[in-house]
Amino acid sequence: MSTSPQNNIYRSVIDLKSATSNEIYSLFESAMQLKNGFTGQKDIPQRGIAALLFFEPSTRTRFSFEAACARSGVYPLVLSGAAGTSLEKDETLEDTILNIEAMKPLFFVIRAPDALNMREMAEKIHTPIINAGWGMQGHPTQALLDMLTVYENFKTLEGKKVLFVGDIKHSRVVSSHLELSRTLGYQVGYSCPASFLPYSVDRDVMYFSQLKEGLQWADAVVALRVQKERHGGAKFSVEDYKAQFSINKATLEYLNTDSIIMHPGPINYGIELEKEVLQDPRSQILKLVENGAFVREALIRQVLQRIS
Ligand code: NCD
Repeated sequence: MSTSPQNNIYRSVIDLKSATSNEIYSLFESAMQLKNGFTGQKDIPQRGIAALLFFEPSTRTRFSFEAACARSGVYPLVLSGAAGTSLEKDETLEDTILNIEAMKPLFFVIRAPDALNMREMAEKIHTPIINAGWGMQGHPTQALLDMLTVYENFKTLEGKKVLFVGDIKHSRVVSSHLELSRTLGYQVGYSCPASFLPYSVDRDVMYFSQLKEGLQWADAVVALRVQKERHGGAKFSVEDYKAQFSINKATLEYLNTDSIIMHPGPINYGIELEKEVLQDPRSQILKLVENGAFVREALIRQVLQRIS
């Protein structure tokens, strides 16, 4: 989100470390303007193509980036998983990106495992990269859409308390929130089994070994999916986890009436959250998805401005 037209890394959005609070609030403002003025119909000239490379599975993030491209006059060319591509013939992720760059997309949107060094890639190529989820490193647009939603609810972010419940250790969503919270001044809390805590916990982060205490503290609770695909086959007991950290009707009794409930999706019902939670008036789970498309549209428009 920084501006330095010479260097591609500054036109890319790999993390949120250098984004200023003014830049973020102006992004939120454009996202809200796009949302409020949305009619479902747009007649805008096509400006070119974008390459959306999803090397890891995705539903919400991929569709919302596709929608955001279409609504900003950019045609999205989408790679969704290795099937049917030369990745099945052992082509590297890096070669895939270099070859697609040769077709001159305006920008890339990339979701990739840790194995790809997205930051180095953005330094190597000339086309901006928007990070759509990078291994355990970060998921900047998810943190932005989460906080736009908190902002929409509370009209301020300063001092707000955001509690993450679940697999914190493997969550790229949490990594991006740690960066964003420093800039926007909200507080981060964790509630999870000790085995789901990252190796080092930031000094400013509150830890609640008892879910009930975390819920009493929180303005917003974010339930996280247990990232089994990043556990390297380690055993995980659903029953033990649920007994202590399930977000359900009973545990939500401890959450304030004006606090909100979030989940980045996909939800694994019966593990981190029970289906009944969707009926809770405090749930903003689908609102997050709605806001995600507008935040991504605002971000794409910003990137297009930077390269024009
Ligand atoms: C998250 C992701 O991919 O990091 N989902 C998302 O982008 N909506 C969270 C997850 O996979 O659990």
